[in-house]
Amino acid sequence: MIRRPIFAANWKMNKGPSETEDFARALLPHVQHQTFPCDVVIAPPFVSLAKAAEMFGNVTSVALAAQNCSQFDAGAYTGEVSAMMLREFYVHYVILGHSERRAIYGETDEIINAKMKKAREVNLKPIFCIGETLEEREGGKLEEVLRRQVTKGLEGFSEKDMADTVIAYEPVWAIGTGVTATAAQAQEAHAFVRSLIGENFGADTAARIRIQYGGSVKPNNAAELMACPDIDGALIGGAALEAPSFLAIIQNGTAA
Ligand code: PGA
Repeated sequence: MIRRPIFAANWKMNKGPSETEDFARALLPHVQHQTFPCDVVIAPPFVSLAKAAEMFGNVTSVALAAQNCSQFDAGAYTGEVSAMMLREFYVHYVILGHSERRAIYGETDEIINAKMKKAREVNLKPIFCIGETLEEREGGKLEEVLRRQVTKGLEGFSEKDMADTVIAYEPVWAIGTGVTATAAQAQEAHAFVRSLIGENFGADTAARIRIQYGGSVKPNNAAELMACPDIDGALIGGAALEAPSFLAIIQNGTAA
């Protein structure tokens, strides 16, 4: 099974519209009229999506993602943005279940599952993030945590939903810390996640689903990680804030 790798820039709470424009000007010469052997996705903050859509709207090699959406359709939810609203910004993906949303904003597996369903209702492709803390890993709970996150987060998903879902395995202890999981640690977790997808959705879906690695991915470790058989791309935070390093990760990662 050849899975098309997917590299996504998660800008988190960085870059308003003017910095988004600067980034786009730096990236555009390298992505316009180019085809990549992978999908390239950029996830700016909500307020920069319109600028990103303006800059990348006619660039077929780059797709946009949002970093979150509401679990509700519309109404009295101050501060929230619905999945449906995102469709107006040429957004095709939405990052859900990120560990920062889980830890800082108290998002439970149930809330994440409700958001996943809202995303699918309007045909957005979830980038569904899972991953264990250091305490959980050291306490021997890695598999238990991943099993719970996968089973609850994807509850009610059909085969079609799964075909449009990307999973991002991001060990919490590797996010923004400069400590990357070793390729062996990442591969082991990815193979386990793929086996969980097999248990829940069958072998065919397991073979097709793309599982990104995330957590301190940099140009100098992308090749080693992407060479692992169950790693199908990366979700990149810090190193995706500058166009050259994002591009270098894509280049090194796809040359692997
Ligand atoms: P990082 O973030 O690359 O800065 O570790 C990854 C993420 O949180 O998605």
